[in-house]
Amino acid sequence: MLEISKLNVFHGNLQVVWDLSVKVGVGELVTLIGPNGAGKTSTVETIVGLNRGAKGSIRFMGEEILGMRPHRIFEKGLALVPERREIFPDMAVLENLQMGGQGRPEWRKALSHVYNLFPVLQERERQRAGTLSGGEQQMLAIGRALMSEPRMLVLDEPSTGLSPLLVGQMFRSLEQLGREGMTVLLLEQNVRHALELCQRGYVLENGRIVLEGKAKELLHDPHIERAYLGI
Ligand SMILES: Nc1ncnc2c1ncn2[C@@H]1O[C@H](COP(=O)(O)OP(=O)(O)O)[C@@H](O)[C@H]1O
Ligand SMILES: [Mg+2]
Repeated sequence: MLEISKLNVFHGNLQVVWDLSVKVGVGELVTLIGPNGAGKTSTVETIVGLNRGAKGSIRFMGEEILGMRPHRIFEKGLALVPERREIFPDMAVLENLQMGGQGRPEWRKALSHVYNLFPVLQERERQRAGTLSGGEQQMLAIGRALMSEPRMLVLDEPSTGLSPLLVGQMFRSLEQLGREGMTVLLLEQNVRHALELCQRGYVLENGRIVLEGKAKELLHDPHIERAYLGI
């Protein structure tokens, strides 16, 4: 579904990602893990058209999307849950979700799917989004992205700032999404959870992929154990 090849990403003259190649198959859960500053956000912003300083190729459903405007990429069914959740704090939970549905006629079906995945959002639908806990706001950000019924979801560090309990809950929701057939690219620093959830993984360090493979194998890789799992 998504095929990134030899992607080089720049901020102005400063190069931050080198020759990144990543593939995500239909219905696959893939993670790109790496520490702070590795280039994860720069990469996702490039995928969804928010960072125009890039060279290489990004194909979505066989079509080149590098250089396309963000709204066109979104309309093709590629939705991002950004690192800074970007919910509307003064609007109700339900209104935030409706914004994600963008006036689509089938928004009620999408809404019941989101409420099934995150029952707490239904319980709080009239509440101002800004009063939700960090974990609930993250669920709202994911829910809002799902309201557009995307073909593929890209999540930029959804576990950041969440308590261990909520991290577990959030990953279980992603697991359910995976079982339902959603295609996911997950950018994470929470290496253990990400590798336990996904089928395959790539390790990004200083803007370069240094390791890739089946998630189960990466969990037992000596470099990963030492650098990320504290073993
Ligand atoms: N807008 C920007 N202008 C210049 N440099 C940036 C900008 N955003 C990020 N960077 C730099 O790009 C590198 C990668 O950052 P980022 O993509 O945010 O990594 P990550 O998401 O993995 O933490 C870092 O060295 C960061 O300082
Ligand atoms: Mg980031």
